[in-house]
Amino acid sequence: MEAKEKFIEAIKSSYSFKGESLLLGSAIWGDDQETGCQVRVPLKTMNRHGLIAGATGTGKTKSLQLIAEGLSDAGVPVLVMDVKGDLSGIAAPGAMNPVVEKRSKLIGLEWKPKGYPSELMTISDEPGVRLKATVSEFGPILLGKILDLNENQTGILSMVFKYCDDKRLPLLDIEDLKTVLKYIQEDGKAEFQKNYGFFQTTSAGTIMRSITSLEQQGAARFFGEPSFDIFDLMRKDREGNGMVNILRVTDIQSSTAMFSTFMLCMLAEIFQKMPEKGDVDKPELVIFFDEAHLIFRNATKTLLDQFEITVKLIRSKGVGIILVTQSPDDIPAEVLGQLGLKVQHALRAFTARDRKAIKLAAENYPVSDFYVADELIMKMGTGEAMVTVLNDKGMPAELVHTLMRPPFSRMDVLTRDEIGDIVHRSELISHYNRDIDRESAHEILLEKMEEQDALEEKARRKAGTQGSTTRSRSTRQVSTFERIMKSPLTRTVAREVTRGVLGALGLSRR
Ligand SMILES: Nc1ncnc2c1ncn2[C@@H]1O[C@H](COP(=O)(O)OP(=O)(O)OP(=O)(O)O)[C@@H](O)[C@H]1O
Ligand SMILES: [Mg+2]
Repeated sequence: MEAKEKFIEAIKSSYSFKGESLLLGSAIWGDDQETGCQVRVPLKTMNRHGLIAGATGTGKTKSLQLIAEGLSDAGVPVLVMDVKGDLSGIAAPGAMNPVVEKRSKLIGLEWKPKGYPSELMTISDEPGVRLKATVSEFGPILLGKILDLNENQTGILSMVFKYCDDKRLPLLDIEDLKTVLKYIQEDGKAEFQKNYGFFQTTSAGTIMRSITSLEQQGAARFFGEPSFDIFDLMRKDREGNGMVNILRVTDIQSSTAMFSTFMLCMLAEIFQKMPEKGDVDKPELVIFFDEAHLIFRNATKTLLDQFEITVKLIRSKGVGIILVTQSPDDIPAEVLGQLGLKVQHALRAFTARDRKAIKLAAENYPVSDFYVADELIMKMGTGEAMVTVLNDKGMPAELVHTLMRPPFSRMDVLTRDEIGDIVHRSELISHYNRDIDRESAHEILLEKMEEQDALEEKARRKAGTQGSTTRSRSTRQVSTFERIMKSPLTRTVAREVTRGVLGALGLSRR
């Protein structure tokens, strides 16, 4: 048998699966782009995570786009982290051009333009559904990790949460947390230490400083109400297409801690709320991180460990994570080892060091009778990739040089008007983009401090001494502690605040 026939036979048998699958493109043999041999990935193993890698401009984001489309078509909702702001085009139909036409013909694809049902989301001030979470929902353990606190400091934070829980002080936003910390260092100190244990003021100071630095990265906007319900990510449109949720994080380059915060919180929340699924026919949700190196670049060791563990466990909830980055070694080895789907676009070798790196990268791929992986990585064209998937039995399929299919949606961004349209049509925005500032720990404690001041002032006057201790006060309306105790308080506080969201993973509690 001729080598090419052997190759086609091997790919065809390796890439035929039971159950639904989505089209990635078609196999390339040498210079022959027309093999009539499609490359697909089973939906069943999309919760086994994936990697899309390659040098700048080699087609990573388009691969992300076409996979997200395939999932949406199959009724699977997706969440994409749009770091460069170049993914919004998925909401609009693409346009035919000679490249698309030629590619579709080679792949045997009937190309039809399609815009996908999309929801724009934001954690900053960009247009879209605002995603928020309350401080309570974070829990002390996760918050401690994000703030990079040591064991002792995290212990204090846990006690602070417990204290707020006992006192029914809702911890909603950063202001609440800061006020509580301040309170237990001042007026509330004796009582706190009596009931919750001794702490050093310097530790509380350190916690406060970490909070301030997180705040400087814009995290304040992210904490508060209404908190986002992760099941709102899992919607379908009337035709049964999975929703494409585009989280625009174009301004995160300067605030990676905020981004990690957000990401871990969301993963933890998803992990915690979704029921155990075991084996699934298709995933419940797939999350794409474009420019994923940003997550890992400045992350602390604890955050990385947490991410690794979450990736490992979240798949049993039917959630897939696909990381998109330039080089596989942007990703910690422990995470890399868990990725099933691999779409490796070209890497360029300018120096001896580059070639070495490529050789190493190639070692992450299954051995092939047909290709020398490192050579192939260097010579692939734009929109071509070296692909391997997990087959329906969870085993790696043959490595295959693939001509990726063109996306059906627009390979360019939306206009401002189009973005306005999506925001206008959103069913979530009216719910989430409200400004809620409920009476919470901040207001309640300020009032207590005010009362305390008044008492002291009175005592002083009685004793005939001078001086005022009046502190700056919130201009917001405050009510009595009593009233709060009776009010239909906060589901947030009613939750077990000491668990720590990731405590649910059963690993973080020491
Ligand atoms: N599957 C494809 N079908 C058709 N054209 C493609 C495909 N993939 C890539 N291209 C072409 O290559 C260009 C670059 O692709 P893309 O933006 O995905 O690269 P990238 O690897 O994400 O680059 P960067 O690292 O700069 O983000 C696209 O604008 C498009 O013209
Ligand atoms: Mg890109």
